[in-house]
Amino acid sequence: MRKLNMKIYILLICLVLISSVFLLSGCSSSKNLPETNESAPPVVKQEVNALTFYDWWTSASESAAINSLIKVFTDKYPSTAVMPTPVVGGAGYTMIEVIKPLVLAGEAPDAFQMHAGYEAKPYFDAGLLEPIDDIWQSENLENVIPVVIRDMCKFDGHYYAVPVDVHRSNVVWYNKPLLEKNNIDPNSIKTWDDFFAACDKLKSAGVKYPIQIGETWTASHVFEQILASQGIDFYQDVVNGKVTSASDPRLVKSFEIFQKYLSYTNPDASGNTWDVATKRIIKGESAFNIMGDWANGEFKIVGMVYGQDYGSFAVPGTSNMYGLVVDTFQHPKGVLHPTNSDNWLRVVVSKDGQDAFNPQKGSISVRSDSDISKYDAYQQSAIADFKNVTYMYPSMVHGSGAPGSFLLKLNEVIAAYVNDLDAVKAATALTEETKNISSQYTKVWYLK
Ligand code: GAL
Repeated sequence: MRKLNMKIYILLICLVLISSVFLLSGCSSSKNLPETNESAPPVVKQEVNALTFYDWWTSASESAAINSLIKVFTDKYPSTAVMPTPVVGGAGYTMIEVIKPLVLAGEAPDAFQMHAGYEAKPYFDAGLLEPIDDIWQSENLENVIPVVIRDMCKFDGHYYAVPVDVHRSNVVWYNKPLLEKNNIDPNSIKTWDDFFAACDKLKSAGVKYPIQIGETWTASHVFEQILASQGIDFYQDVVNGKVTSASDPRLVKSFEIFQKYLSYTNPDASGNTWDVATKRIIKGESAFNIMGDWANGEFKIVGMVYGQDYGSFAVPGTSNMYGLVVDTFQHPKGVLHPTNSDNWLRVVVSKDGQDAFNPQKGSISVRSDSDISKYDAYQQSAIADFKNVTYMYPSMVHGSGAPGSFLLKLNEVIAAYVNDLDAVKAATALTEETKNISSQYTKVWYLK
């Protein structure tokens, strides 16, 4: 029995040895094989002539604007196939959810729409953006782009994005015939009291909802302008994470104004996109809408004329201020078409690119050498204000001003507030969040 076992044991060892030798020789022989056409191609990313990018410009005027920019690109690079992926959803909240996991997984397109400032930080921190100082230098951008915008495109002293536009956030849009019909002079509206008096007048004349508002981010957008209306000192404290008391009188006052504001708005806000809210002003269903000047694009594209059919004034209390919303593109690391990515960035920030995109978008060029004749009366006044206003402030709701987690909390708080109007709960949640994430306020804003 033992002898038999021993025989089987020896046989097994032989089998193992033989198969090991076979396997090893197989491995080594394949290593030594000369390369043939049948062998698998080496994994090298081939640059084909295409450009892929993501954006959230899907309203009528936004699409027209990005198409004009693409045309400038294809005129210059006719053999490059441009493949945009537009993702519906104002202010980019939907697109950001789509793009972030792609970029973090190393699957970024050649470029994507991104607000300047904090919104880029997660990508920068993860080392997923190429520094593009060379583009800023070769295109001589520091000479034509003001320092406030330059700073928003930088991390650790290096450029990681190029701006495509400057939007103004603190604008009240109005339907001119509707105000005229009700003897309301928009030039006389300077304070929140003036504004609410005009709303009362409209209401008593039968305008059910004098103000249009939309989904959560548009309510947060309004609230942000109300914060700014409490003064640049306060706004600076907010973006620097310094407002940590729920009973801060400036915060309390902001919620008071917001509550009053909401008493004049449409009840179907949550299902209302920003461009539908703007269309209701266009149609004269409501008189006012606080919105960034991408709304200007929507008035224009239906043929309305600024100063004749519609108009605008600064959000009460902010006439010496310019709320900044800046869209950018960048060069993510490891993209499939790096040359086209750079070509795109150069076109985006070029004079021709800016002057094709911005006149339709409603915004102004980031460049001081833009062709002003291409811009409408609103934009020409915005260009003058951009040069002359006393204070600029970065939008939080549009990605630049505050850490991403504060923005998430702000939208959550505002979504709850428009339903329950519980100012103490809202102010407590915001200030608690500010304290909890204090280490994330890595940028110090000097707004004065
Ligand atoms: C902003 C963006 C603008 C405009 C707007 C509405 O965040 O900066 O370019 O697109 O959203 O979608």
